[in-house]
Amino acid sequence: MSIKFKQVSYIYAPDSPLEKKGLDNVNFELQNGTFTAIIGHTGSGKSTLMQHFNALLKPSSGQIEIAGTTITPETSNKNLKQLRRHVSLVFQFPEAQLFESTVLDDIAYGPKNFGYSEKEAKQVAQVWLKKVGLPDDIADKSPFDLSGGQMRRVAIAGVLAYEPEILCLDEPAAGLDPQARKQMMNLFVDYQKAGHTVILVTHNMDDVANYADDVLVMEHGQMIKHDKPQVIFDDRSWLKQHYLDEPQASLFASKLAGFKFAKQPLTAKDLVRGIKENIKG
Ligand SMILES: Nc1ncnc2c1ncn2[C@@H]1O[C@H](COP(=O)(O)OP(=O)(O)O)[C@@H](O)[C@H]1O
Ligand SMILES: [Mg+2]
Repeated sequence: MSIKFKQVSYIYAPDSPLEKKGLDNVNFELQNGTFTAIIGHTGSGKSTLMQHFNALLKPSSGQIEIAGTTITPETSNKNLKQLRRHVSLVFQFPEAQLFESTVLDDIAYGPKNFGYSEKEAKQVAQVWLKKVGLPDDIADKSPFDLSGGQMRRVAIAGVLAYEPEILCLDEPAAGLDPQARKQMMNLFVDYQKAGHTVILVTHNMDDVANYADDVLVMEHGQMIKHDKPQVIFDDRSWLKQHYLDEPQASLFASKLAGFKFAKQPLTAKDLVRGIKENIKG
């Protein structure tokens, strides 16, 4: 099974003076079980695209096939619970949506909503509390007494706890310090390795280089490229033309006058290997 977008367009406030194209004829196919990064400037349509994965927004035209469901402009809101059980969307700053009186209840909310018994929900909540790196003794605290980074982990644990097949994350690490961001990215990579599909909006090209199998590049509501990170980042003049950043390793390599790299280094590991080859050669 795969995820397919076929000629998907989305128009905000149609037939009004504020009409605005959010997505413009987007076509792609993603394989289940892969890690996809979505990149592009602010306003390019990344969040609009993300909201189509679980039909929070429905296309104005075109269709989407995902997790056994076909979403069209006519899809009724009534039949979406099953889809949302399988495809979960984590917004930017998900901690803003915490509301239960204890951390454990907040994490258990999603599982309960999708049919787990009270007891099962609390059990999985306990497991995921640990997996996201929160200390056990936090379980009975109010989520509002935690730090911002901890609150974010509680919110994400609440989604992972019912194990959606497809996890969509809109800039989940925005505003976190580098250590916390790395921990969070590792969590998502582990989730993918456990057999799930991960789709991530990010501005961090190092995360793209390190973790993504596939990259979708958005610009003005259009998907202007879909390829492997190596192919995207090899084409430095194309990146420049579209004002897109490069991974740190790639930038560093480009400043090493006289060094030649068989392929553009994308990660620290690639860079070290490339430098060694230059020194030996
Ligand atoms: N609720 C909305 N109403 C009208 N226009 C919107 C709305 N949300 C987003 N847009 C517009 O749609 C375009 C894509 O926005 P968005 O998907 O949020 O981009 P990104 O997530 O890449 O920053 C932008 O031009 C934005 O101004
Ligand atoms: Mg956005």
